[in-house]
Amino acid sequence: MRVIITDSYERMGLEAANIVAGQIYLKPDSVLGLATGSTPLSLYRRLIAVHETVGLDFSSVTTFNLDEYIGMEPDSPHSYHYFMHEHFFDHINIAPENIHLPSGTAEDMAAEGRRYEDMIAKAGGIDLQVLGIGRNAHIGFNEPDVKFEATTHKVALDEETIKANARFFDREEDVPRYAISMGIKTIMLARRVILLASGAAKAEAVSKTLCGSVTPKAPASILQLHQDVTIILDKEAAALLPKEIYGVRIDNYG
Ligand code: PGA
Repeated sequence: MRVIITDSYERMGLEAANIVAGQIYLKPDSVLGLATGSTPLSLYRRLIAVHETVGLDFSSVTTFNLDEYIGMEPDSPHSYHYFMHEHFFDHINIAPENIHLPSGTAEDMAAEGRRYEDMIAKAGGIDLQVLGIGRNAHIGFNEPDVKFEATTHKVALDEETIKANARFFDREEDVPRYAISMGIKTIMLARRVILLASGAAKAEAVSKTLCGSVTPKAPASILQLHQDVTIILDKEAAALLPKEIYGVRIDNYG
């Protein structure tokens, strides 16, 4: 694992954007795995800026998002389909047919999971997967006590996740209780992974991910076994890491 510690949320996004843009420059038809939530917004803003200023070309890029709420219509403002269009896809030159998210309204979620996995395989697999992390160390919606061997499947959301995501809804009761999510196996098969985390609320999850045992109780800890992971943090999210952590690059932009 490589660890990059930056001094701010915006710098975290900048570091991540450099990696994603480099991936696309080197392989214009890259397959990206993408994440929703507050964390990747600075990454998406920066990529949009690179597209607008120096023409980073997304026309041959294919994307697969990690997850979607079950029961959520794609055009609902709470859906991850909507989120991705609003914050990223509508601002770059990606081909609509190259955008993929699992369907939250499929009748048969097991079949939808298989269909999604088939599409990823047909696209050649994921070259670079972007991840956030939950306070409980979930990645995608793979909550504690996850089965590491799972591929895209229906998941029940943890109470902690429901509380954390309530900020996007009028009332906590409105947060969906189920989602369809890429599994840990899907994520582990990506050739490269970048995980972003920002803020003190993520510090414990980050510490468990990097320094704890590999355990289904901290789903992101499995990334210790991935061959190409870069963890990009702001200093608040890095606060509980030991100073001597291996492979760290601390950027002092001050
Ligand atoms: P957040 O969510 O970026 O909104 O904190 C991250 C996650 O739950 O994976």
